[in-house]
Amino acid sequence: MLNIVIFGAPGSGKGTQSARIVEKYGINHISTGDVLRAEIKAGTELGKTAKGYIDQGQLLPDELIIDILASTLDSFQDSKGVIFDGFPRTIAQAEALKVMLAERGQEVSIMLDLDVPEDELMTRLIKRGQESGRADDNEETIKKRLVVYHSQTSPLIDWYKQEGKYQHIQGLGTMEGIFAEIAEAIDKL
Ligand code: AP5
Ligand code: MG
Repeated sequence: MLNIVIFGAPGSGKGTQSARIVEKYGINHISTGDVLRAEIKAGTELGKTAKGYIDQGQLLPDELIIDILASTLDSFQDSKGVIFDGFPRTIAQAEALKVMLAERGQEVSIMLDLDVPEDELMTRLIKRGQESGRADDNEETIKKRLVVYHSQTSPLIDWYKQEGKYQHIQGLGTMEGIFAEIAEAIDKL
């Protein structure tokens, strides 16, 4: 079982690199952001709740997101592994993931930290906002997302270092070059 946490600030390339990992290793992908955006599109109660947080660049409450994660995990059958994209985002979520996997006789194999300078993150997200229009890709909300990343999410770097799962990935460069570094790290497992 390959359980990969793909980690990084907003715009660091988690979704982009997850697609390549799925293609090469044939594992399931769960992006909590994608799940929430689908709920918003479908107009569900969860979607309505999620929209309030996402538009403000804030995180949803841990209990809510942990429940979503658990039910998505249970929906995968005969899985070769999972790539967790955008989860965990807080220490409480990381601890919940550890318990959830342990209950299934598994553990996180590796945490890939896509490291990208802040000016590049801003450039990428502003550009995407202009092209495809994700509601939270505007300068004001991006700034809030980055503040939330630094205060609530980046402490997970030390948490995963302590777990012995941390792998730094240079997240600046071509998509192919970054994927080559990721694949090298996964192939060593
Ligand atoms: P989420 O959807 O996870 O958004 P995010 O973390 O802000 O990150 P993005 O999806 O914007 O970026 P990415 O790292 O996937 O980069 P991508 O590959 O798209 O979360 C959204 C919201 O949902 C949160 O703010 C929160 O409200 C809520 N939420 C989600 N999970 C939660 C959780 N666990 N707990 C609580 N709340 C939660 O790339 C970005 C752009 O850059 C693209 O246009 C791409 O084409 C481009 N790009 C990628 N790689 C490169 C490269 N190498 N060079 C140049 N451009 C590149
Ligand atoms: Mg994403």
